[in-house]
Amino acid sequence: MKILVIGSGGQLGRSLCDLLCNHRIVPLTHRDLDIVNLSAVTKAVESFKPDTVINAAAFNDVDGAESRADEAYRTNALGPRNLAIATARIGSRLLHVSTDYVFDGTLTRPYHEYDSPHPLSTYGSSKLAGEDAVREMNPRHYIVRTAWLFDSTGNNFLNRTRILAASRERFALVSDQFGSPTHVAHLAKAIGTLIDTDVYGNYHLAGRGGTSRFELVKLAFELLAIRVELEPVAANSFPAAAQRPAYSVLTTIQEPRIELPSWQEGVEDFARACGRG
Ligand SMILES: NC(=O)c1ccc[n+]([C@@H]2O[C@H](COP(=O)([O-])OP(=O)(O)OC[C@H]3O[C@@H](n4cnc5c(N)ncnc54)[C@H](OP(=O)(O)O)[C@@H]3O)[C@@H](O)[C@H]2O)c1
Repeated sequence: MKILVIGSGGQLGRSLCDLLCNHRIVPLTHRDLDIVNLSAVTKAVESFKPDTVINAAAFNDVDGAESRADEAYRTNALGPRNLAIATARIGSRLLHVSTDYVFDGTLTRPYHEYDSPHPLSTYGSSKLAGEDAVREMNPRHYIVRTAWLFDSTGNNFLNRTRILAASRERFALVSDQFGSPTHVAHLAKAIGTLIDTDVYGNYHLAGRGGTSRFELVKLAFELLAIRVELEPVAANSFPAAAQRPAYSVLTTIQEPRIELPSWQEGVEDFARACGRG
């Protein structure tokens, strides 16, 4: 299958290009293609004629989106809309990646694909608008919601904390917000499994189980033998521009049932990769 990976310079984009190597991959970074530009998107899709486009591009600055809402909507809503229009025109499929932050966190059990979104932040609203545009414009779509991505090379919370540990004696970490930490490579493999099917719709693909950022770092530091004091604190002790859901653990009830390894297995893989340097 010929696959166009959009946003191929990001964490997920890079992992998709590495792991879907049984396909013909055409990687496009932000420099190669700005998804906000409809004519550039149409030209790229029509010249490469992919069977499938995977959109891993996004405006991911959750707090920054509150003051740069136009930019967030352009990348997270207009961009996917452009991709959906261009792919529908040539009959190719679009896999679009979205987020657990489309939910408000008021449930007390994990969110599945049929729960109603209600974002609390501009980032979450812009991502939901992107989902809606994709659903509307290209019937051959997969919408994949994921959460709290990490690996040992990307710019993500867990990896930044690990690097900072070399120069810090203690960390205060939020212990009252719960999500589904997801190893980027586990997500990329699950996406590979999903696109081998023609079963379109919404999917939650995230590390199995849920935890807080405090417990996530605690396990990683134990496995890496990093001895730094960790203090559990409430989310409201870190004032932030964007409101985040208190509970956005994801689960899947969708067929085909594609389950990722647990978040703890993700942290074990992370620690192994860090150990390899
Ligand atoms: N990271 C998380 O914890 C998380 C959680 C839930 C969902 N997600 C979703 O998962 C997906 C992948 O996230 P990620 O962590 O891999 O993101 P990432 O590392 O921030 O990569 C995003 C990529 O998109 C590119 N990009 C930004 N604007 C673009 C545009 N207008 N046109 C083309 N490319 C553009 C960026 O390029 P530049 O850097 O050069 O601008 C970057 O290479 C996104 O849809 C994200 O919303 C992520």
